[in-house]
Amino acid sequence: MGVTCSQTILKQIANSRMRLFVTGGAGYIGSHAVRRFHEAGHEPWVFDNLSTGHRAAVAGFPLMVGDLGDERAVTSALATAQFDAVIHFAGAALVAESIQHPLNYFQQNTSHGITLLNAMRQQGIDRLVMSSTCTVYGGPATDRVEEDYPLAPINPYARSKLALEWCVADCAAAYGLGAIVLRYFNAAGAHQRGDLGEDHSPETHLIPNALRVALGQQPCIPICGTDYPTPDGTCVRDYVHVEDLAEAHLLALERLVPGRSIACNLGSGSPNSVQEVIAQCREVTGHPIPSLVSPLRPGDAASLFADIRRARELLDWTPRHSSLENIVASAWAWHSRNPAGYGEPQPHPVPAPKFPSLRRSA
Ligand SMILES: NC(=O)c1ccc[n+]([C@@H]2O[C@H](COP(=O)([O-])OP(=O)(O)OC[C@H]3O[C@@H](n4cnc5c(N)ncnc54)[C@H](O)[C@@H]3O)[C@@H](O)[C@H]2O)c1
Repeated sequence: MGVTCSQTILKQIANSRMRLFVTGGAGYIGSHAVRRFHEAGHEPWVFDNLSTGHRAAVAGFPLMVGDLGDERAVTSALATAQFDAVIHFAGAALVAESIQHPLNYFQQNTSHGITLLNAMRQQGIDRLVMSSTCTVYGGPATDRVEEDYPLAPINPYARSKLALEWCVADCAAAYGLGAIVLRYFNAAGAHQRGDLGEDHSPETHLIPNALRVALGQQPCIPICGTDYPTPDGTCVRDYVHVEDLAEAHLLALERLVPGRSIACNLGSGSPNSVQEVIAQCREVTGHPIPSLVSPLRPGDAASLFADIRRARELLDWTPRHSSLENIVASAWAWHSRNPAGYGEPQPHPVPAPKFPSLRRSA
């Protein structure tokens, strides 16, 4: 990586308690990270409009309900206390919806991110960890992608995220911001305690939807395409446990270098096909989980999984919870105990697609 930074400074930062401003902290990945930050001795404050997040997911933590599109609200929230760093999870993440509402996605993911960066500058906060996505690679010609692979996003969601990545990199060069941009592959699983998990509406991810079949909440699980050039003909993806993602954010916080923005893949590094995932869901639940073969979706890569060497080296990160067995078992523990999720209605900010596809939004 060639990241040179005084080990002493890094150790000092690592040992100090940080007050953290966590946008989107009430969401699926954010809430797991908030808990992990707290466990590590930091002080997370959540800023969230609760459009897809849940108050119950951050019970016991300071929650500022506000919208990133509201510049005054963001500025005054950031001025509430002296924050040491920002962790930016908030955003919209449905590929199909982004194709229908591209302006909304550039507003939610790019423009609101710029509002946040401006407010951070005003408050003199120069440390950022940001959620991005493997979809910035598009449908690469290789299976296992590393961070230097050419970026070719193929939908507005991915482009809106990449636009913010570029903006963050320019802010690092111009203003000395220290940033780590984490490109998640397919986030999955639930907290080992069984009280935090995935609750999206509409749900577009494969594992929760397969488990919904086992719970009798939908009749079958669609499989989009069985003719891909993969061992069983279905798409191959990289599922990474949400607690491993949370750990990576903690490690990233401790490794920010002023004036540098570094992108880092977060995946398990192990590929699993759609058929393998469904088979695992059948094994864990004991339910036959019927599937329905549906037409493939244009633009879906046959196979996409992460080269995670940079995360291992730079963050000293190992995905400890990301075996497919553990991912599905933890997700099942959450969904079977909480069949209605957090039981909170979600005021989705833009119209939901009439026929929500099962396209994963990693
Ligand atoms: N889930 C995945 O597999 C995955 C994969 C790759 C990247 N990501 C990215 O990770 C981030 C978190 O994903 P998630 O699955 O936890 O999503 P989520 O929808 O569960 O969480 C997003 C959170 O942000 C909040 N939010 C949204 N817009 C906001 C706004 N304008 N102002 C304030 N709060 C707002 C929501 O209420 C919610 O709590 C997103 O940026 C997403 O693009 C997710």
